[in-house]
Amino acid sequence: MAGSRSAQWYAGNDRNGYIHRAWMRRGLPSDAFDGRPHIAIANTASDLTPCNMHLNEVAEHVKRGMWEAGGVPLNLPVVSLGETNVRPTAMLWRNMAAMAIEEMLRANPIDGVVLLGGCDKTIPALLMAAASVDLPAVVVPGGPMLTGHFRGAALGCGTDVWKLSEEVRAGTLSGEEFLRSESSMIRSKGHCNTMGTASTMGLLAEVLGMTLPGLAGTPAPDSRLLEGAHETGRLIVGMIAAERRPSTVLTRGSFLNAIVALAALGGSTNAVVHLLAIAGRLGVELTQDDFDRIGSGVPLLVDLQPAGRHLMDDLYRAGGLHAVLHQVRDLLDPKAITVTGRPLVDQFQNVTIHDPEVIRTRDEPLQQDAGIAVLYGNLAPDGAVIKPAAASPHLLKHRGPAVVFDSVEDLHARIDDVDVTPDSVLILRGCGPKGYPGMPEVSNMPLPPKLLAQGVRDMVRICDGRMSGTAYGTVVLHVAPEAAAGGPLGLVRTGDMIILDVENRRLDVDVPAEELAAREPSPEMTAAFARPERGWQRLYVETVRQADTGADLDFLVGSSGDHVARESH
Ligand code: FES
Ligand code: MG
Repeated sequence: MAGSRSAQWYAGNDRNGYIHRAWMRRGLPSDAFDGRPHIAIANTASDLTPCNMHLNEVAEHVKRGMWEAGGVPLNLPVVSLGETNVRPTAMLWRNMAAMAIEEMLRANPIDGVVLLGGCDKTIPALLMAAASVDLPAVVVPGGPMLTGHFRGAALGCGTDVWKLSEEVRAGTLSGEEFLRSESSMIRSKGHCNTMGTASTMGLLAEVLGMTLPGLAGTPAPDSRLLEGAHETGRLIVGMIAAERRPSTVLTRGSFLNAIVALAALGGSTNAVVHLLAIAGRLGVELTQDDFDRIGSGVPLLVDLQPAGRHLMDDLYRAGGLHAVLHQVRDLLDPKAITVTGRPLVDQFQNVTIHDPEVIRTRDEPLQQDAGIAVLYGNLAPDGAVIKPAAASPHLLKHRGPAVVFDSVEDLHARIDDVDVTPDSVLILRGCGPKGYPGMPEVSNMPLPPKLLAQGVRDMVRICDGRMSGTAYGTVVLHVAPEAAAGGPLGLVRTGDMIILDVENRRLDVDVPAEELAAREPSPEMTAAFARPERGWQRLYVETVRQADTGADLDFLVGSSGDHVARESH
């Protein structure tokens, strides 16, 4: 193995070989440098990413497997993102984390990497980085937390925060009770237990072929996660010997498999931007329209919040991801392989559904056509997305007057006494990648209290931002181009009639083209757009692409491979 990547640092008895070995020894025996693989554990554990706090323990078990199989494990703490803490939105830093991780993997003497992630943006950032370096790589998803309960009922992370806070706004729950529920929600280590973005991306990492088979969805406190971590440590050593890289595993077929699974699972809309961004790193042709074309005819089989009732622990108990994939096996690409080198479809031959309340069969789906619909029209020339499974059926075809908010601050200032009817369409703009900046999860706008008091629980809402994967409602998201990039969403005025027609995939404002073209963007909106003068945020705003292609930075699209740079001394 003298030709391995790390050997380009450690082999040879010259001055530089001496330096590289000497500083790394620290207890490593000499044969650690005999050409055996040196493997990074890209670890997003951080006390400020509470969903990933337990990953240091997971890393210890990955190390055991690596030692056992003849590798040298190296913990590499990487940029981490805590979804609930990081402002203005963790999404603003996804590309930065991906860039930093990519560069550190390439700059260091390593032959492969195990990726430890969990909270929403961490697995996407790790996969984007791994794709652009293209060293052998495998994910250990940190797993969801256990179900917490309040007043005898299960609490879903995120989803029940939205529900309970609407109850407070509607006057049906006291503020005191609301606060009492707070300490019950996060019961254990792990990420959100709804089918939000973290659960979705952990499961899709496996569908893409990037995890040990059967590992995704294992709850964070479950011993089987540590067992899987140990086995993953062994697996990566074999992958390096076989030179099995992300570019061999992540084919167009594996992305289409992920789209099928996304629909059957009722997964997060955020998966659209993340999968597009990962594919962009590999040069795999994948478009937003693929999500609609492939996903829309797939039945929803998993009854998890926010689209349904149960939580991740229930899904695991009911048979997990494999039981779901087994139901849609005929829709999956049989040629797509996983990190094991074997086809994904071979990994769930004999699986059963243990609880048909949680995982439905193909004959009795929760909904016949799930997936994500991509809308076009004079409001979204480059598209917008909606998740019909999380929307109200009666609103999927709707015509109503716009009530426009020029910023999130404007929304919060006016929503409590704005002039609306249940037919009104709430529009929020300035929340795209450039405008906010970072495309935050603000699209599921709170409903006006006056309508809540009348029993209204959903309205059509349209925004150029994203929505939490744990949220629900008839919300049109990811409108492209965003208002800050000159999109027509910035030209709508309160009172304009908006036409939503999900069946025909249309999103329009009923204003003649000439009149719309002659309008000036509202000065209040323009004033609220982000204008960062320096640093990462400036680079981001100047180079970020729109949601329809994954909101990556234009110069980060593609791969630079794992080449070894010139000497440092
Ligand atoms: Fe981390 Fe939800 S906040 S996964
Ligand atoms: Mg989120």
